[in-house]
Amino acid sequence: MVARSVRTLSLPLHTPRLLIRDLEPRDEDAYAALYANRQVHRHLPFGARDQAGARRQLAGILAAPKRARRDAWELGVELQVSPGLIGACDLTWHSSREAEIGYLLDPAYWGTGLGIELVRALLAAAFTELGVARVLAHVEVSNRRSIELLERAGLAWEATLRRFAQVDSRWWDVHLYSVTREQWNSDP
Ligand SMILES: CC(C)(COP(=O)(O)OP(=O)(O)OC[C@H]1O[C@@H](n2cnc3c(N)ncnc32)[C@H](O)[C@@H]1OP(=O)(O)O)[C@@H](O)C(=O)NCCC(=O)NCCS
Repeated sequence: MVARSVRTLSLPLHTPRLLIRDLEPRDEDAYAALYANRQVHRHLPFGARDQAGARRQLAGILAAPKRARRDAWELGVELQVSPGLIGACDLTWHSSREAEIGYLLDPAYWGTGLGIELVRALLAAAFTELGVARVLAHVEVSNRRSIELLERAGLAWEATLRRFAQVDSRWWDVHLYSVTREQWNSDP
């Protein structure tokens, strides 16, 4: 049965090790440090690339009304065992047909499987709560870690979008990855 599209999420989302929640003013320093980290933003065409830009970006997110019914969720990621931002993610509702995910973690936590936990939680939220038919992600063509993560999470390459974005005179080529509700349901 196809779930009804309601455009609400029951936050926070939980994974075995993570809590995924709305961003808060107390996250400002950690959020700014995350986005200013070159390892983090190296493969991201969009989003802040320095502390000042990240603080402005967070202020914009915090200023947006937190309605129950939304089209986009910009969320913070923290460890259940210790409060404090270690990552961020987003889920954007494009239509009842599809939603898009994005995610990043502090490099101190790479290689620990937290990325796959995060992506699996976003997929579950998109399919079971938003009721979309498919979930997609755009990933810069040389972003090996994220490509491996998406494939481990069950997303498959769908297309390469050349010159997807131009930021500061640099063109970005990205892969489009996706997973359908049926594929996700049959993932063991
Ligand atoms: C994308 C990103 C979250 C991936 O992080 P990651 O650490 O590679 O992914 P995971 O957390 O799933 O960890 C996987 C690794 O942990 C290992 N691992 C350790 N414990 C594990 C566990 N309990 N479960 C699963 N994997 C585990 C895996 O073997 C794998 O190792 P490998 O890197 O040697 O192959 C991270 O690189 C990032 O934040 N990048 C910057 C932002 C970005 O590019 N975002 C994506 C935009 S499309």
